[in-house]
Amino acid sequence: MIRNKRPANARTGPALTRAAEACLRALSSSVLPVLPVLMLMALSIGAVQAQSFGPAATGGSLQVLHWWTSASERQAINVVVNQLARQDIQWRDVAIPGGAGMGAAKVLKSMVLANRAPEVTQLNGVVFAEWADLGLLLELDNVAVPGNWEKQMFPTVWSLINNHGHVVAAPLGIHRINSLLYNTAIFKRYNLTPPRTWEEFDQIVEKLKGTGIVPLAQSAEAWQLATLFENLALAESGPAYYRRLFVDMSPAAFLDARMLHILKRLRGLAAAMPQPVRERPWTEVARSMVSGEAAMMIMGDWARGELNAWGMVVDQQFGCAPAPGTGEYHLYSTDTLAMFAGNYAHQAMQETLAQITMSPAVQSEYNRIKGSIPVLRTPDPHMDRCARDSWRTFSKGPAFQAPSLVHRMATDDTTKDAIVAEVQRFFLDRTITEEQTQKRLAAIARTLSRNRND
Ligand code: BGC
Repeated sequence: MIRNKRPANARTGPALTRAAEACLRALSSSVLPVLPVLMLMALSIGAVQAQSFGPAATGGSLQVLHWWTSASERQAINVVVNQLARQDIQWRDVAIPGGAGMGAAKVLKSMVLANRAPEVTQLNGVVFAEWADLGLLLELDNVAVPGNWEKQMFPTVWSLINNHGHVVAAPLGIHRINSLLYNTAIFKRYNLTPPRTWEEFDQIVEKLKGTGIVPLAQSAEAWQLATLFENLALAESGPAYYRRLFVDMSPAAFLDARMLHILKRLRGLAAAMPQPVRERPWTEVARSMVSGEAAMMIMGDWARGELNAWGMVVDQQFGCAPAPGTGEYHLYSTDTLAMFAGNYAHQAMQETLAQITMSPAVQSEYNRIKGSIPVLRTPDPHMDRCARDSWRTFSKGPAFQAPSLVHRMATDDTTKDAIVAEVQRFFLDRTITEEQTQKRLAAIARTLSRNRND
């Protein structure tokens, strides 16, 4: 049993010589004034490495920072909380509201800088590497190696949670961001079928004209607008072009005619949205779709989990389909828990939590409630129609997968935030032309990718 194992091979990550350089890369300008604090912290954590460790703790609690605050998110995470409780470990909640973790990322940064890092955090995406290179994350090889994680999980997830050959996070599930949800009563009344392309989507908008029904429920929150933007980017030219944009940060890709088309389409979609498009949480957007105010919404499949939590059933009150033009692809985001190193009194409990996340029973139950799919290669027999489609598409492999920009799967936080803000600015301010935005996005790509490679 992992929790009784002596944490003799406790590690905090690669050599601290790399920490200073990683520090500079990881920190945005907003935290530069406190750089020395973080440097000191990384060094003091390094010092713990040399200590000898006592026997593993039996019982206790773990503070967990996350942004799962909606009904379904709560229910899903309770699957993990209850399993932990059975091991006599209490989950102490630090829940920061705000879809896509926009607020949580900032709170996490300040907690770390104040030397009050939680023991565990929801930490999605490529940012692991930054934290791990600072020596801040506990390596979970003690659990991952005997648990044979590499063979059990999808290779994409395995490489995401690996940093220089060490596992630095425990994965919970895979979300599909290119998900379209629709109101079945409206679709039936107007004899509509889920749009497979954006041209078919336009035809639905035409048919709904004059009915008082808003075709597309949408929020003006930056990350929700950027969700639409990344869906359009994937639909435009598939995963290869998508990766040139958001993974490679190629200025030429941003200056391509295809980007112009994506931006035109994004702006054009405003006519299909509620007027004015207000900033509201994704749960409210979902509410407006199932209430019949709007016909469709495009959102990560946690929205399906939420509708289930509200007592609605797929193919009864609502339907699901891939977002237009993306049926062959999987725009993905992976939910993961990373553990902060620094206090080895918690290590046994942190490892127990990691082990729980990968248990097939937990993977099945958690993801069924959450709307996502397990990270395991073996298909879960309890998946619904939408989850089965997500699983089938994801298992086709990297050529069909696109890492979500918004959910930090494609690039670092600073770059992501800059692009997301630019997209929102473009959408809200009609005096900014598509060409200007294209140039600004290319400039962001040029500047930030240069910084990264320096
Ligand atoms: C997370 C989901 C969460 C969603 C809405 C995403 O970034 O991966 O787990 O439900 O944000 O907040």
